[in-house]
Amino acid sequence: MKSILFVCLGNICRSPIAEGIATKIAADYNLPLHIDSAGTSHWHIGEPPCDNAVKIALKHGIDISTLRARKVHPKDARRFDYIVAMDNDNRNELLSRGFENVYLIGDYGNFNGADVPDPYFFKDFEGFHKVFSMLDIAVKDFMKKENLWN
Ligand code: 4NP
Repeated sequence: MKSILFVCLGNICRSPIAEGIATKIAADYNLPLHIDSAGTSHWHIGEPPCDNAVKIALKHGIDISTLRARKVHPKDARRFDYIVAMDNDNRNELLSRGFENVYLIGDYGNFNGADVPDPYFFKDFEGFHKVFSMLDIAVKDFMKKENLWN
């Protein structure tokens, strides 16, 4: 079974949404995948996804409210086939910690290596629409291009 770990900074906004999108595809298409998410920081360990992340996912029929934040663990390097960073800072942080199987979600879906914007700086809900639509396209393209979803 192939495994995917989506990684952002806090593991309360972007990577739980990515996890939710991939988990729904795996469930809908009966794909044998292990999917998880984590943060590079310890700041929100044990917390559920932020309210706006839960809200935007639910608008698209995905319930991420039961997810809980955790920090990336060194052992994740061998537990997961794909470690997928949400932005270039996350990616560089993972590489500096010695992870090798690191992918950038912005390299998929014709985003030319762009960062998924950090919602921590959003003042309102609008930004979450952009985050969701970018992740919806990029996560699906990632799963297809890596032959995880045929
Ligand atoms: P995330 O968003 O990395 O998408 O979960 C953030 C959440 C919290 C913080 C930064 C980004 N923070 O600085 O606490």
